[in-house]
Amino acid sequence: MAGNITLTMIKPDAVKANNIGNILQMINKAGFKIVAMKYTQLSKAKAGEFYEVHKERPFYGELVDFMSSGPIVAAVLQKENAVEDFRTLIGATNPAEAAEGTVRKLYATSIGENAVHGSDSDENALIEANFHFAATEMHA
Ligand code: RTP
Ligand code: MG
Repeated sequence: MAGNITLTMIKPDAVKANNIGNILQMINKAGFKIVAMKYTQLSKAKAGEFYEVHKERPFYGELVDFMSSGPIVAAVLQKENAVEDFRTLIGATNPAEAAEGTVRKLYATSIGENAVHGSDSDENALIEANFHFAATEMHA
């Protein structure tokens, strides 16, 4: 693939608020290529597996309940420096601290319901892409 990848999920809050289109437009305008995408819903078990790294954190139960509460859009995005550039585009975890013009500043409502996920490293981006997609579903 040309460039690196990152994995995003448009979370249930942003889907419910009809912000799929707005967020995908921001992603494309920022120069990311969508190489895989699906509209799906995580079971509690799959949401728990995805965020397993946080299982000792006090917000884990709430996070798993929220992420399995409704449909999401999962996508693999490709760009030079994809992981870091995508985290810049989405802004801080807490929307109150997110920079102006970022996805979370515009569309997140709280630190828990914060509109989008973005991978935190190249290694995790690959793991997360393979969590959501088969090789035949990725089109670099
Ligand atoms: P994400 O993994 O979803 O892209 O978010 P992130 O890296 O910015 O934040 P992370 O520390 O990985 O936390 C994962 C998700 O857990 C929820 N959270 N809730 N109530 C709380 O204090 C709290 N802290 C984190 C958020 O949904 C966060 O995105
Ligand atoms: Mg994270």
